[in-house]
Amino acid sequence: MAVREIKQGIYSVGAIDWDRTLFDELIPLPEGTSYNSYLIKGREKTALIDTVDPTKTDILLENLEELGITHLDYVISNHAEQDHSGAIPAVLEKYPEAKVVTSAKCMEFLMDLLGVPDERFIVIGDGDEMSLGDRTLKFILTPWVHWPETMVTYLVEDKILFTCDFFGSHLATSDLYASGNYEVYTGAKRYYAEIMMPFRTMVRKNVEKVESLDIDIIAPSHGPMYRDSKFIMDAYKDWTSDEVANEVIIAYVSMHGSTKKAAEHLADALMERGMTVKVFNLSTADIGEIAISLVDAATLVLAAPTVLGGIHPSAIYAAYLVNALRPKLKQIGIMTSYGWGGMAIQHVQNCVTVIKPEIMEPLLIKGRPGKDDLERIDSLADEIVKRHETLKIHRR
Ligand code: FEO
Repeated sequence: MAVREIKQGIYSVGAIDWDRTLFDELIPLPEGTSYNSYLIKGREKTALIDTVDPTKTDILLENLEELGITHLDYVISNHAEQDHSGAIPAVLEKYPEAKVVTSAKCMEFLMDLLGVPDERFIVIGDGDEMSLGDRTLKFILTPWVHWPETMVTYLVEDKILFTCDFFGSHLATSDLYASGNYEVYTGAKRYYAEIMMPFRTMVRKNVEKVESLDIDIIAPSHGPMYRDSKFIMDAYKDWTSDEVANEVIIAYVSMHGSTKKAAEHLADALMERGMTVKVFNLSTADIGEIAISLVDAATLVLAAPTVLGGIHPSAIYAAYLVNALRPKLKQIGIMTSYGWGGMAIQHVQNCVTVIKPEIMEPLLIKGRPGKDDLERIDSLADEIVKRHETLKIHRR
């Protein structure tokens, strides 16, 4: 990524990863990502806010050279995950005078993950400040805006909040700033769903903790920056609220068409009853798209056939992911078609032990859905509508 000046003496020096398609060998990245790193020159001291993924170390070091940085005082580490910390050892080698400034917990992680020696650290606490001469860094601990050690750094005079993963998005874009358009909103929501949703309560508390700051720019370490901090904070408040949307996700896998027919009939029945429905074929769906839907939906219906003595493995994988992402689902419905054994329900129940949604009465269909089965699916739609009427529904 080219070096770009954000304000006098403040530069974007990170890297765009246009090609990356997968994060943590799990999360699809349809829009690539970026590892934003920021250089701040104060009158007396110079600080680097986060680094980059180890695969992009050369770009960061070249950018610092381009700016003529021969002396670096501080590397601020907001988060120990390697996509932001991975280049710290190389930066410390190039700038032997530099110290890593971070929380005690993050220091522990960086020592374990990267072998950074303890004499290279300056440990700060919540609310501590550090002067660069004419500029002041204020550190705010915001645990669980991905990992337990995460923090944000506020540049007081310039009113810039450097948030690392918090408010980020996996978007490879040449735009320095978010435009507030649909693509940016969806990118941020996908990111929230995949990275932040499991820690929803802590994330909400951390939004409350930083929203009183006077902020001109939110500068995350993935995706574009925000001039309109209210845009992204309001979105986070919405996503982390306890309210659900009047939406049903139907996630199905079908081997010979029976479950697909059941899933499509349920979708039609719900739509006829005025519900918003999102249907995903688990064989082909992008799990990120399912995660986005899980941010708001009140109900998930898993539909899968019985195979190999249990429910189809794709349904188990989906249930496992749902449990790990901890959405605010109120209930899960299960439809399964079977040929000669209908013992699949327990497998799904065993996967959703953390979120503990109510498991609705399962619907077992022997073979291809007949007239009676379709009527039972209509009754399931009625039941879902009835349950939604009792919920605190978010009206957008
Ligand atoms: Fe972008 Fe949790 O690292």
